Amino acid sequence: MTSLTATPAWQALGTHSSSFKPDDFRCSDLFKEDSRFSAFSLRHEELLLDYSKNFCTKETLSLLLNLAQQARVPEAIEAMFTGEEINSTEGRAALHTALRTPAASNQFPEVVATLNRMTDFVHAIHSGEWQGCENHRITDVVNIGIGGSDLGPAMVTEALGAFSNKQVNVHFVSNVDPNHLQLTLSQLSPATTLFIIASKSFRTLETHENAKSARQWFLDAGHDESQIAKHFVAISTNLEAAREFGIDGENMFPMWDWVGGRFSLWSAIGLSIALAIGMKNFQALLAGAHSMDQHFRSAKLEQNMPVLMGLLTVWYTGFFDAHSTAVVPYSHPLKQLPQFLQQLYMESLGKRTTPQGDSIDTNSGEVIWGTEGTNGQHSYFQLLHQGTEFIPVDFIAIAKSSVPNKTEQHKQLLANCLSQSLALMQGKHYSDNESRSSPGNRPSNTLLLAELTPYNLGSLLALYEHKVFVQSVIWGINAFDQYGVELGKELSRSLYGAFENSKQRSELDASSQGLMQQILEWS
Ligand code: F6P
Repeated sequence: MTSLTATPAWQALGTHSSSFKPDDFRCSDLFKEDSRFSAFSLRHEELLLDYSKNFCTKETLSLLLNLAQQARVPEAIEAMFTGEEINSTEGRAALHTALRTPAASNQFPEVVATLNRMTDFVHAIHSGEWQGCENHRITDVVNIGIGGSDLGPAMVTEALGAFSNKQVNVHFVSNVDPNHLQLTLSQLSPATTLFIIASKSFRTLETHENAKSARQWFLDAGHDESQIAKHFVAISTNLEAAREFGIDGENMFPMWDWVGGRFSLWSAIGLSIALAIGMKNFQALLAGAHSMDQHFRSAKLEQNMPVLMGLLTVWYTGFFDAHSTAVVPYSHPLKQLPQFLQQLYMESLGKRTTPQGDSIDTNSGEVIWGTEGTNGQHSYFQLLHQGTEFIPVDFIAIAKSSVPNKTEQHKQLLANCLSQSLALMQGKHYSDNESRSSPGNRPSNTLLLAELTPYNLGSLLALYEHKVFVQSVIWGINAFDQYGVELGKELSRSLYGAFENSKQRSELDASSQGLMQQILEWS
């Protein structure tokens, strides 16, 4: 057992945490100090973090910063940027930051070369130079991938819809449920559709099945194998498997094992994004992320946005029994952000041991959930305000609306966002009947973006990536592997076989047998 909780920094935080627990503690009282907002907010370019509505005083901050020093967070940040094998269980570096380093200073020629190839490809599709097998230009692009090969590209493409250059419509298919692909293909024509098979491993069952079905759909329309090259491209580390699938060598974009799936939207996995918004905007997304990378690497811990946000989460999971964080973007274009963050956080931090296999002795990765505001206010916010769970919230707001001539309506949206964090902090007491009272004292961060641009979105996403890393370093876990998802994958292979094989079926547990029997009868 590796004991984080026995360390002096943790123990000091434990003692300190008791000052936030008495019944008469009011988070809103912390605002009696005039400088609360300026002392507990931080700006990086067009991104402002207000963390003043947290259980956090100057003393808390100093104790949390001691914890970060004790956990050697600065050294870990440097190890990540310099390409040490921080993903020790898989013997790899985690160099997603290299994907967004500007070409002039990028030490990875393969990254620069791949971006150049993407630029040429995007240009060929947008200009109509690249034609389908019947000499039509491509009108629709379908990204087939799942997890990191889907969530990031799908979320960013939607978030930056206002930047679409409208040359192609981009669709995303992830689920092995045939409904997903069928629904998408029902609107498309094979002669004008391009498929991107996005799979780091090129071994993922869902992607493989959907890619096979897409290929069959294309062939069934009267095309032959030789025409596949004009309609299928792949992004993978496993170029051999992509070739076996029938993808032309010319149509393959590489990625590398030092890019984790959930950190890969910056690589060629982002080709769908680039096709949707153009390469210039994709480069701006990378530039925004790079700027956050530099901030993370160079800012002092006390002025370091990812570090502060990560420490606050460690504080709440460790000392206030928080089991989840709600992420609520007050932005319709950002509505897929919580799903993206779910994978980023929960695949990275959903672990109970160190890389050496020793148990950690505190709560780690919390549940991440949420939907866009204001919609969430009319569903689960009741629980945030009056429920028994202690759930910190990240509010995300955009100062300037992307919809022209709608500034008044946009103000309504922002007023709702600000009012929710205020209500959560202040609460309201009714002396006649406690069931009407909201206790308040519910912490939140607000992240305010000047505008939802590719650059600012890049910064926001890199901020969350680095926040996750900070938490992993403090908890002593490896954020970059995901052995837990393997078991389900293995079992699904053997259960698939049992549908056809009665002997295999009879060896299953009673529940699986019973369900499978009923499926066979009903199907
Ligand atoms: O769900 C597990 C996982 O391995 C994720 O980490 C990954 O993003 C996803 O599957 C897809 O993997 P691939 O890109 O190799 O198809």
